[in-house]
Amino acid sequence: MDLSSNLMGIPLKNPLILSSGPMSRSGEMMIKALDAGAAAVVTETILNEIRPNVRPRMFNRGQGLQNIRLYSEFSLEEWEREIAMVKERGGILIANILAHSPSEMAFLGRTVESYGADALELGVSSPHGEGLAVLGSDPENLYELVKTVAQSVNIPVMVKLSPYVNNLAALAKAAQLGGAKGISAINTVRSIMGVDIDQMVPLLPTYGGYSGEPIRPIGLGAVATICQTVDLSVSGIGGISKFNHLLEYLMLGADSCQLQSALIFHGFSVISEILSELESWLEDKNFSSLEQIRGKALSRLKSFDEIILEPKIAVNKRDCPLPDCTLCTDSCTFSALSKNQKGLVDIDSSVCTGCGLCVSICPRLCFDMQ
Ligand SMILES: Cc1cc2nc3c(=O)[nH]c(=O)nc-3n(C[C@H](O)[C@H](O)[C@H](O)COP(=O)(O)O)c2cc1C
Repeated sequence: MDLSSNLMGIPLKNPLILSSGPMSRSGEMMIKALDAGAAAVVTETILNEIRPNVRPRMFNRGQGLQNIRLYSEFSLEEWEREIAMVKERGGILIANILAHSPSEMAFLGRTVESYGADALELGVSSPHGEGLAVLGSDPENLYELVKTVAQSVNIPVMVKLSPYVNNLAALAKAAQLGGAKGISAINTVRSIMGVDIDQMVPLLPTYGGYSGEPIRPIGLGAVATICQTVDLSVSGIGGISKFNHLLEYLMLGADSCQLQSALIFHGFSVISEILSELESWLEDKNFSSLEQIRGKALSRLKSFDEIILEPKIAVNKRDCPLPDCTLCTDSCTFSALSKNQKGLVDIDSSVCTGCGLCVSICPRLCFDMQ
């Protein structure tokens, strides 16, 4: 099976990349990801100065993760050793860097390039650092930054964007205009995980970044927007823990994908599981390469004007096997669904407005639209 992919002209053996974060905090960790099958690794964000990490800094609730971790704990000089380890192993390494100004970013870029980095990812999108407000949400600043860095190095430059902006398309265009060869999205989503209502304190003491399964729809939306806007190599990130999540990003136009939270929760074996399940799925569907599926869903994404208003309503696809389940009837805001004495669902076609919620809410896939 041909899983080969491409990151800004760098050939990848498959589309799966370790994203920036604690699982890429050292050469040793990145080599574990490569050993598990990752095609490339992105370092944790490298800065010119080290900042101590607060404790605690991670909180899990449901399938989501909030973190207030601030970048790498290694100095720029220490990264020479860590990057060399990955290069000696033959790995493809993207250095994620962040600085206060374009010239400082260019200095960091040149330095990690001299250490052996194959590409740069400009980490201007962490919701709890200053990079997002100054560099990662203003198209003019981003253009200047990318231009300065891209002109200073010989390796391709990718910009990591945040979903916490209202001008994603403009930022993507600015990055392309500045000379970026790729865009990765998304970084974590600015959030407060919750409040301990007995103590009346937030669960973590400051705003943090939300990641994992719950942010996948936000990542998919961002990637689709970017792919519709620019012709660059796009790396999709956010909530990937299974092969089908990866496929969703590829079908919306991503060339590669990155993951972090699933590895924090379950370890590096997630990488090999995703890859082997991806191969099996492609084989079952008689595909021979990823090129056959890339961007297929993006081309089917419609604007509201293009959606044809059809007189569709819900119909029973099969009898409900769960007599006590009331998920569909409870959530039918038009009262079109009711359970009869046999526990089966009756649909009143005269009041169903075809909202479609029952189709996705039913755990046994009992509904269809007709
Ligand atoms: C604990 C933690 C630390 C992270 N640190 C960084 C970082 O240093 N630089 C960066 O660009 N992204 C960082 N990220 C963001 C991830 O690379 C990724 O964009 C985000 O978590 C969404 O992917 P996921 O749902 O697979 O985790 C971090 C994420 C987590 C969970």
